[in-house]
Amino acid sequence: MKSKENSEFHKRSKDELNNFIKKLELQALETAEERIPLYLKVGLKDAESILDVGCGSGTVTRDIARLTKGKVVGIDGSEDMIKVARDILKDYKNVELHVGGAESLPFDDNMFDVVTCNLLLMWADNPQQVVNEMARVVKSGGKVLASLEPDYGGKLHFPENPKVDPIFAGKAIKEKGGDPHIGRKLRLLFVRAGLETKIGIGNNRIWSCEENKSYYLHARDFYVKALKDAGVSEKEIDKWEYEYLKSLDEGVQLNFFPQFYAIGRKTEDL
Ligand SMILES: C[S@@+](CC[C@H](N)C(=O)[O-])C[C@H]1O[C@@H](n2cnc3c(N)ncnc32)[C@H](O)[C@@H]1O
Repeated sequence: MKSKENSEFHKRSKDELNNFIKKLELQALETAEERIPLYLKVGLKDAESILDVGCGSGTVTRDIARLTKGKVVGIDGSEDMIKVARDILKDYKNVELHVGGAESLPFDDNMFDVVTCNLLLMWADNPQQVVNEMARVVKSGGKVLASLEPDYGGKLHFPENPKVDPIFAGKAIKEKGGDPHIGRKLRLLFVRAGLETKIGIGNNRIWSCEENKSYYLHARDFYVKALKDAGVSEKEIDKWEYEYLKSLDEGVQLNFFPQFYAIGRKTEDL
């Protein structure tokens, strides 16, 4: 079995864990403009109980806790991540955290007004079972939200690099045990879970070259490691990085991939 970068199956070293947490923090910051409108759309403000599945280090759960007066429950399969989340969320009295698998949620049927997940389904072993579980624990009439599930098949960028591009267009994610095409599967997963479903794309803005550069520099270790793991030589990596940064400094690089979301409503008779 491949080691799954983000799941409890993979024990990280202290450095790996710290880097991963930093990456999640940065991602949460940069995607807030896409996620917050979705949280409002599913009625987070007036919800009394919210479950955030695969809450990781809790940065996204913190956004949720800030937007509601309701009780927020976070759950993640990794004890390490929940430990960090406990620290990040220690001042939020309306948050409760659990270690547990998303494929078999330790909650009764019809318990929550809103159930969310962010960047989870891509990494889940059985995403259909996860969505089924989210649908089970949400109340009748309540909403299930999967925010920001990417589809690297829709990745567009220019100028191109024929050696490196396919690696970042999904190969690297697949190698780590993730599904680079989860975005296109969201409708099927939600409909099969019996939810009345709406699908959309959360990111409708193309990042500026400055934003791309800042993200690249923060996440450089991950990019370089992915290229090394894919067998690209150091010389080729250096050349690619030089060209990539040059295109960003010139302000000519365009980089985009769709981040899909799904909102499912549990109908009374489910
Ligand atoms: C990419 S991280 C996203 C974390 C958080 N939602 C965020 O957006 O910052 C994915 C998280 O899902 C968790 N995860 C993956 N598969 C899981 C499963 N089957 N059950 C519970 N958690 C799972 C991982 O431990 C990891 O913390």
